Amino acid sequence: MNPDWKIETLAIQGGYEPKQGEPRIVPIVQSTTFKYDDADYVASLFDLEVPGYFYTRLANPTADAFEKKIAQMEGGSAALATSSGQAAISLAILNICRAGQHIVSASTLYGGTYNLFSATLPKFGIEVTFVNPDATEDEIAAAFRPETRALYAETIGNPGMNVLDFAKFSAVAKAQRVPLVVDNTMATPYLCRPFDLGANIVVHSATKYIDGHATSVGGVIVDGGNFNWDNGKFPELVEPDNSYHGMQYVKTFGPAAYTVKARVQLMRDLGPTVAPVNAFLFYHGLQTLPLRMQRHSENALALAEHLESHPCVSWACYPGLKSHPSHERAQKYLPKGCSGVLTFGIKGGAVAGKKFMEACRLIALVVHVGDARSCVLHPASTTHRQLTEEQQISTGVSPDLIRLSVGIEHIDDLIADVDQALAASQK
Ligand SMILES: Cc1ncc(COP(=O)(O)O)c(C=O)c1O
Repeated sequence: MNPDWKIETLAIQGGYEPKQGEPRIVPIVQSTTFKYDDADYVASLFDLEVPGYFYTRLANPTADAFEKKIAQMEGGSAALATSSGQAAISLAILNICRAGQHIVSASTLYGGTYNLFSATLPKFGIEVTFVNPDATEDEIAAAFRPETRALYAETIGNPGMNVLDFAKFSAVAKAQRVPLVVDNTMATPYLCRPFDLGANIVVHSATKYIDGHATSVGGVIVDGGNFNWDNGKFPELVEPDNSYHGMQYVKTFGPAAYTVKARVQLMRDLGPTVAPVNAFLFYHGLQTLPLRMQRHSENALALAEHLESHPCVSWACYPGLKSHPSHERAQKYLPKGCSGVLTFGIKGGAVAGKKFMEACRLIALVVHVGDARSCVLHPASTTHRQLTEEQQISTGVSPDLIRLSVGIEHIDDLIADVDQALAASQK
């Protein structure tokens, strides 16, 4: 594997290099455990002195291939696959933040993450301050406290589609000496590589574009290997870990310290492990990710342009549109395309929205994004319904908003389906 290969080549060739006579395709190692001849070898595995496998909760060869491939594509040092995107986000925070500590987050988040941060993390004693992503550097810095341990944001907010101002967020994180943790689910490493833009940790819901075919729920944390944990704020990465014979993560594992700690402490103790078969499907999804992201982005832009001028539509929101507030930033940070999700406001509000969803024939009513097949959803009555109306608006959801996850079908068929459903919505 050559780390200088282009991302299209890493997507195909990265992560798994069979040796003489080994399977060409990464095997699904559907085994909880591994067999040994030598007790001393097992002891050295448990002491983390040699790399290897002892229990699939902690590491598995199929998961390992997926982790290596995504780490290579993101340009990171290591990765840890998880059972869901939510598990990836939870472990990413818990790895560096404990009761009594605090994080600052952009308010424009996927509804599940907003819930995790506003309802569940506080029950663990971790407080979250939400900031408007358009706030100034000084305003964001003002949300920090001595006990703040991370700054969090999404590359492309779901479903507002606002593009992260990486220059501003990474400058604040750097000045505050905390990592910038970025959810790169919507952009994927094909459209945006957050580590090149100042981020330190990337999380993904692998359930979305990485899988790409709506088969598996999973997540992954990718370590940029580019943060100095030995800055006085993260003693748990620097000082001896008594639950691991006094292991010092930074000293022993260098740029992979954060990932090793997440694996051997949090995955060991909390256990949201990726299933080997799901890791296999994510590994294969990554192989075609560059091609799919090109087509998702082209189709979404064409459909957004069509909707923007449609008489039954009040507004269309897609960063590729000149009218989008993030358009300029999208050109800077997402030059290859803006991914497959767009939103629009339907004339006739929530009533017309429901009729539209029911009238779609090719585009399916599905609570999902990132599938090769196109999907439609009304977030206010589904994914964001646990939030108050005020919280919904602060995450970018209005009652007339329809979200389309534009697939990789032919654009003519997508436009025809949208047109007939819009006509039906106004009757
Ligand atoms: C941006 C983003 N992050 C995280 C998640 C959570 O991922 P999962 O559903 O795999 O737990 C989602 C799910 O929709 C998402 O869209």
